[in-house]
Amino acid sequence: MKITKPHAALLSSPGMGHIIPVIELAKRLSTDHAFQVTVFVLETDAASAQSMYLNSTGVDVVNIPSPDISNLVDPEDHVVTKIGIMMREAVPALRSNIAAMIQKPTVLIIDLFGTDALCLAAEFNMLTYVFMTTNARFLGVTIYYPNLDKDVKEEHTVQRKPLEIPGCEPVQFEDTLDAYLVPDEPLYRDFVRHCLAYPKADGILVNTWEEMEPKSLKSLQDPKLLGRLARVPVYPIGPLCRPVETSKTDHPVLDWLSQQPDESVLYISFGSGGSLTAKLLTELAWGLEQSQQRFIWVVRPPVDGLSCGAYLSVNSGGAKDSTPEYLPEGFVTRTSDRGLVVPSWAPQAEVLAHRAVGGFLTHCGWNSTIEGVVNGVPMIAWPLFADQNMNAALLSDELGIAVRADGLEEADSTRSEIEAIVRKVMAGEEGEEMRRKVKKLRDNVEMSLSSDGGGSAHESLCRVTEECQRFLERGTDLARGA
Ligand code: UDX
Repeated sequence: MKITKPHAALLSSPGMGHIIPVIELAKRLSTDHAFQVTVFVLETDAASAQSMYLNSTGVDVVNIPSPDISNLVDPEDHVVTKIGIMMREAVPALRSNIAAMIQKPTVLIIDLFGTDALCLAAEFNMLTYVFMTTNARFLGVTIYYPNLDKDVKEEHTVQRKPLEIPGCEPVQFEDTLDAYLVPDEPLYRDFVRHCLAYPKADGILVNTWEEMEPKSLKSLQDPKLLGRLARVPVYPIGPLCRPVETSKTDHPVLDWLSQQPDESVLYISFGSGGSLTAKLLTELAWGLEQSQQRFIWVVRPPVDGLSCGAYLSVNSGGAKDSTPEYLPEGFVTRTSDRGLVVPSWAPQAEVLAHRAVGGFLTHCGWNSTIEGVVNGVPMIAWPLFADQNMNAALLSDELGIAVRADGLEEADSTRSEIEAIVRKVMAGEEGEEMRRKVKKLRDNVEMSLSSDGGGSAHESLCRVTEECQRFLERGTDLARGA
């Protein structure tokens, strides 16, 4: 029987920040481009937000048992190192799953830490794409940096000079990636190994769009600029983000929001697993209280080491405690007329889409960033790790839709700084101006997604579909590259 429908296998790294966009891409390929899709994810605790989310997507998901990496990493290792090793160790299980499929995939789509699976392309005669769940700026920096001379790298990482990137805004030292500051450590080597592998795929998909990142995208598509290093087509396919689920609208957090005035509530969340130190958590609580603004705060216990320490361990299922002991005594009672504390996890897509939300204090994970933009919400950028500092720079310096709150010290005076920033965004003129700009960006999003007006996301996926269709038609008897 001749197979006419392309089959896409998508492999996601662990963490909601990766899984959500991978699932959304799978949905779009299936609904708008007639692909059969299979999404591979690493199994987690059945009570986690990941597991609950995956059960509700309607997409064909295959769980791969999470490899035991306890002998391969130190508990103190950076989350990027841990994820990279988990993904590498998961390749044999992915191989067996693909080998057992009756209709083999036409294309394998991996996310940014899945590059060890690229070797399966030749074995199973598949096209391969890398899916950047983060943005074009990150892609540009990460394919450029490893190619620089040691001296140039040191000008940036030791002498703290801005890193010039062809056709893009420079990266300030304060915003540089954690990995670049430890060039002799496994974190750097693991990270760069992935980045150098991106151009080995047949194309790179990026969860971004023209109005959001015009300069970086142009450079990546220009063979005289970053396109020279990308070597393969770079397709903007965003914004891809989780849609609002109507079944969730009776959630207690949304009930509370419905009693608040329009654009009056600041939503605070540090993403999949970001955490603050005990001191900063305390300062944030006092700053919020002093600001007198309405808020919803998704809180997690403090972590006094790496801010990504909880990334792979957040059990986001449904903690019941509403008065966490790690907040200042009496905080919940004193702010109960205007604030809501939500332990661990909230229905973020629905919260940000609510008419009562007027600001978002975010760690600037790319999914949270996109969710803020598509809902027209101005932001307070409090980046913690990985790409988040660069994302914060994009939001504040290039787009003018956020103020930055990072670099805050562990001091008692910090609460007043936080108070001032919160007031600025929620009640000040600067906040109004940012709101106007982010709403303008939001209003243009539909254009990128439009299927009849030449939207860039739709056009990009049409080109990927054509390529897969052509590959399929060449016949499975042809070896890849023959
Ligand atoms: C990290 C990176 O910084 C990010 O840029 C990369 O693309 C993925 O990994 P992460 O901490 O996962 O970030 O944050 P983010 O990208 O914002 O994704 C978190 C997702 O979880 C968002 O879609 C958000 O809506 C969801 N979420 C988070 C909830 O639904 N509820 C919560 O309480 C917290």
